[in-house]
Amino acid sequence: MEVSVAPILVQSIAQKDAKSVVPQQYIQPPEHRPIKPANETANDHKIPMIDLAGDRNSNLLRDEIARACTDWGAFHVINHGVPIVLLDEIKKVGSFFFENLPMAERLRYACDSNSPASEGYGSRMLVATDDAVLDWRDYFDHHTFPVSRRLPSRWPHSPSNYREVVEEYSKQMKLLAQKILGLISTSLGLPSSFIEDAMGELFQNITISYYPSCPQPELTLGLQSHSDMGFITLLIQDNVAGLQASKDDEWVTVEPLSHAILVILGDQTEIITNGMYKSCQHRAITNANKPRLSVATFHDPAKTTTVTPAFKPHRLIPNSSARRQLTPMFWSEEVINKDRRGSLFVCLDGSIIAMASSLSPSDHLTSVSLPSDPGDHVVPIHIVTNASQLPPEFLKPSPDKKLVVGFDCEGVDLCRNGTLCVMQLAFPDAIYLVDAIEGGKTLVEACKPALESSYITKVIHDCKRDSEALYFQFNIKLNNVFDTQIAYTLIEEQEGGTKVPDDYISFVGLLADPRYYGISYVEKQEVRVLLRQDPNFWKYRPLSELMVRAATDDVRFLLCIYNKMVVKMNEKSLWYLAVRGALYCRCFCITDNDYADWPPLPLIPETLVTDNNAPEEEVLSVVDVPPGKMGVVIGRKGASILAVKESCNAEIFIGGDKGPPDKVFVIGPVKQVRKAEAILRGRMLEIF
Ligand code: OGA
Ligand code: NI
Repeated sequence: MEVSVAPILVQSIAQKDAKSVVPQQYIQPPEHRPIKPANETANDHKIPMIDLAGDRNSNLLRDEIARACTDWGAFHVINHGVPIVLLDEIKKVGSFFFENLPMAERLRYACDSNSPASEGYGSRMLVATDDAVLDWRDYFDHHTFPVSRRLPSRWPHSPSNYREVVEEYSKQMKLLAQKILGLISTSLGLPSSFIEDAMGELFQNITISYYPSCPQPELTLGLQSHSDMGFITLLIQDNVAGLQASKDDEWVTVEPLSHAILVILGDQTEIITNGMYKSCQHRAITNANKPRLSVATFHDPAKTTTVTPAFKPHRLIPNSSARRQLTPMFWSEEVINKDRRGSLFVCLDGSIIAMASSLSPSDHLTSVSLPSDPGDHVVPIHIVTNASQLPPEFLKPSPDKKLVVGFDCEGVDLCRNGTLCVMQLAFPDAIYLVDAIEGGKTLVEACKPALESSYITKVIHDCKRDSEALYFQFNIKLNNVFDTQIAYTLIEEQEGGTKVPDDYISFVGLLADPRYYGISYVEKQEVRVLLRQDPNFWKYRPLSELMVRAATDDVRFLLCIYNKMVVKMNEKSLWYLAVRGALYCRCFCITDNDYADWPPLPLIPETLVTDNNAPEEEVLSVVDVPPGKMGVVIGRKGASILAVKESCNAEIFIGGDKGPPDKVFVIGPVKQVRKAEAILRGRMLEIF
């Protein structure tokens, strides 16, 4: 358990070292130090001002928005509909917190300085590396939407109306953000709800920033140059100037206007418009005379939302120095490590792109929409590093509380000698990503009773390798699985289809099948490519957005698919499914005692026997292959094995390079298995 330490606050340094010099960590390298802008007052150096009054000509308004978004990525709005008194109120309660509360009282609200972007009072939004230059700023960050993230009890209690003001402000900002996103959408010729729909559930944070006066403003920055990561930021400031926006490679000071609200486009807007509208690069400078206060309200998508361009690029985005060009592959890692500072990758070829904003490796990472019947609903994703974070009914399985969970494993080589990294569990109301790296053996072992229990059905797509990894790495005998790959084949057969050897449905294929899901699942491909480039992909910590998204997507559909499959299957198919699932789980897990310590295979249900419709008993047989002869048994491109499969209606598996060497596994009805064994043995005799 990491000890959380009180953050170092600029305000306490500023008070202690008044009229002297700033500590070394706050001194910017010469190229970043603020120099006076050349053209302060020229008109082309003023942030555009847009009047949102209801009686305005909508074409004109759209044109103004389009121009401001293209040229600046930022603009002021007036007649925005937010009560001016509310703008004053929030600045007032904010400044009361920073200027009237004693430090000891303020520190009661300190954010967790070990965790990036945690809510509360702090000074470093990012967990910066030790050599990073620090910002001359303190802040209070509030998580305001979705309401499930909102914990007003953690917000300041004085002045007494503080929380009430923040709540009202949050509501008003959300309304304004929606209005502006609508205008931005229509200014592009898109339906007005376009960006809001793409955003999905709106995540809103309100950050009140306090910039103490600084003895050496020429050496420091209140906030380093960055673009915001979400869709739009709505910002107000007091009457002290300090915010600057970048325009044509020059810094332009944003005039403090007490009734106007500054709209700043974030990276997601740049992505969705494919670079037509740009996210605005901005920073805050400090001054020696007066503290400065601002309130920034960020509107972001959920972390698992993928935001893609609404249209193909029709112009290339210049690769200016402020933006690095990243390969799309790694951008999410960039983002997660940088929070709002992350400079954005640029997608020049119109291919892939990006996704959500913000970060924070908290256990309540984010939520995801869960497909279910009827209607979709949204559930949280928990990252589990300690067993206590898992539901008790899972940890202690009982016949009174039977459960069905979606299940999957990720790792470096999911086999005997690999490393299991994440185990995903999908419950109807939450997704748990069990972190086998951080939580270690203790955590995985805490899941053993559940994974071995017959009271908990594990719905999984292809259980063989996961089972092997669990067995050899943790001595867990995965039991009572509902393998959707096997179920698919059985349903096909039940519905009169003929079985083709080796014709297993992939997970992507299953999702694409309209009878089960009917969606195309592109992400998986992206992760496959990454895994090929770096087999350690699943080992890195903290888990990146991409990892969380990919891990979640592998399980979140399973319960819905399960529900659709179960109703299609007759009793006989269900029995086959149970037996084959059990045999597949054992298949690469060879033991010396012929699986004596494994849970027994399911019995044939009475009803099937009496119906005179008894299914044939199925078995697993392990055939030893003389060392070095496996290649011959398999034949060129697997031709020999395929020939065996064709002549005896049994499943045949080999462990491959990472699995059990010199063994062939045969699963099927007893007679067929014996036949396959005989053919295989015959082949081997021929070889010698
Ligand atoms: C921010 C930001 C500017 C300011 O918090 O992302 O850009 O003036 N703030 O406080
Ligand atoms: Ni910003």
